[in-house]
Order: sequence, then structure tokens, then C-alpha cells
Amino acid sequence: MKARRHSGSVTTDRRLSVELGVRQFYDKEGWALDSDNGFVDTRRWGVTQGAHISHKRRVAEGIKDLFEGGEIFLNCGCGPFTDMAMAVSIDYRRRVCVDISRRALEICRDKLGGQGDYLCASMGHLPIPDNFADGTLCEHVLYHVEKSQQESAVRELVRVTKPGAPILFIYSNPLGPLNMIESILRSLGITKLLGGKKLYFFRWRLRWWRRFADECDVEIGAFDPISARQATALLRNARIAWLFFRACGWMEAKWPELAVCLWSYPMITLTKHVETASVSEATSCQRSKANAYAA
Ligand SMILES: C[S@@+](CC[C@H](N)C(=O)[O-])C[C@H]1O[C@@H](n2cnc3c(N)ncnc32)[C@H](O)[C@@H]1O
Repeated sequence: MKARRHSGSVTTDRRLSVELGVRQFYDKEGWALDSDNGFVDTRRWGVTQGAHISHKRRVAEGIKDLFEGGEIFLNCGCGPFTDMAMAVSIDYRRRVCVDISRRALEICRDKLGGQGDYLCASMGHLPIPDNFADGTLCEHVLYHVEKSQQESAVRELVRVTKPGAPILFIYSNPLGPLNMIESILRSLGITKLLGGKKLYFFRWRLRWWRRFADECDVEIGAFDPISARQATALLRNARIAWLFFRACGWMEAKWPELAVCLWSYPMITLTKHVETASVSEATSCQRSKANAYAA
């Protein structure tokens, strides 16, 4: 007779198998260099069109104002430490890079050297004390975390970030029109334009984020109207691309809430309430002592 397994251990198995798949992909393939000395992942998913790069730079400028500076900037799922991470962390004294991929951390170490600390850990279980970071970025990571673990991973970042400090997630909107079309094409097995999938990927609807209002202010804004893959498939002409991003910039300014609904990538800012911090300090004092920051 088959032994019955506890549902908790099934969840843990699922979490570990997703993490292992993601880690192996990034260690062996995603952050490997291709023949042109670029990262395979960036080549596959990164933004390459001039108009798209300018759009992202403009948005990053706005985000910079959120990150006022301080002692510790935490970059969770840092990958190779993107230009945006570099720009928003400029006023912090130390940059703490966390990733499950050792290869990602090696790349960060080459970039930041002594200005960084490097921690190989999963974002759901951080060996970092409570209220540690003065600003936290988690860019294009959460949707690679097993779906039932995404809430606890977000709460872990809330735990380690100081009250009042920004925690910024770049996520994906399943109801964005381009994402919906992409999902339909993929479900029909049409992947020629968009490329096959190699990694675990799951995104909740944007209203899912409202659950964090119990301990944080939650703000959802528009980040990127189109993924790099979608742009490569749809905006082949540079002039059309330029017009598209101009129109998007105008729309974002005029109807920001509509842009959140339509764009492929939203940005979610959580700011922990001060009261939450004191409750969590009392209840997790033991845990944070045991989890002394071990970078
Ligand atoms: C799509 S890449 C994004 C990298 C970078 N933040 C960027 O925006 O280019 C996802 C990164 O998150 C890391 N990652 C995935 N799941 C993780 C987890 N549970 N904990 C920590 N890092 C994780 C991967 O190893 C990879 O480096």
C-alpha cells in the first residue's frame, strides 16, 4: 500500500522542485555567456529596442525617487544586477544581493566587488534579521516562485525591510491584453513568435496583492506596456516602436489606472506599517536572533 503523505511535505516538495529547476536553469544556461558575450537570459528576455530602452529608463528615473537612500539596499533575485537596480541603489551604502543562482552572485561580485554582500538563499527563507533593509527591489522574480509560496515569499521581504522603506516588485499581469493573447497562443501550441517556455512561471491577478494591506500600504503602478518578446514580435519597425512607446507614455500620464490594467508588467510598491513592525519584532525576536545575517 502506498504511504500517505502529509500535504505540507507535498507543498515543500513542490517548492523545492520548482526552486531546483529555476536554479539549474540560471546556473547552467540563463546566466551563461553566449557567443556575443551577452547573457543567454538577457538575450532571450531582455529589452533590446532603442525606443523600449528609453521607455524603461524614463520609468526607472521615476522609481529612483522612491528609493531615498540609506544603509542597506536589498536586491532579491538580483540576477546580474540590472542597470535599473544600479540606478535606484545609488544612494545606499551597501548593496545586498540575494539569489538562488550562484552564477548570478558571481556576476554581481564581479560588478560590485567590495560594495556588495552576496547571499545564496531563497527569497522565501532569508537568513536576514527583521527590519534590516532600507529599500528592497524584487524585479521579475516572484512569478518564478511556486504559486502557493508566493505570498510567504512576499511576507518574508516585508519582514526584512524597515517600516516606511519601499519594497518594489516588478510582476506580470495575467489580464493584460498582450499577456492574454500570448497565453492563448501558447495554449494552442503556437510558440514560433514568442519562443518556448523553459522555466516555472505563475502570476496571480493584480487584486491578489491587496491581501498585503493588513501589514503594508499597497500601491500598484504601470511599469512596462509590453514584454521584450512581445515587442520583438509586434514592433518590428523602429518608427512604429517609437510611436507606440510615445503613445504609452502619454496614456500612462493621462490614465494611470487604465495603464495598470493594460500593461504587461505592473510594479507593486509595499510600504510596511510602523505598527506591524512592532508586533513582528515581539513575535519573531527569537527567529531573527537565530537567523543572524549570514552573508
Ligand atoms: C528573470 S531573472 C531576473 C533577474 C533580475 N532581477 C532582472 O530583473 O534581470 C530571475 C532571477 O531570480 C532568481 N530567483 C528565482 N527564484 C528565486 C528564489 N526563490 N529566491 C531567490 N532568487 C530567485 C533567479 O535565479 C534569477 O537570477
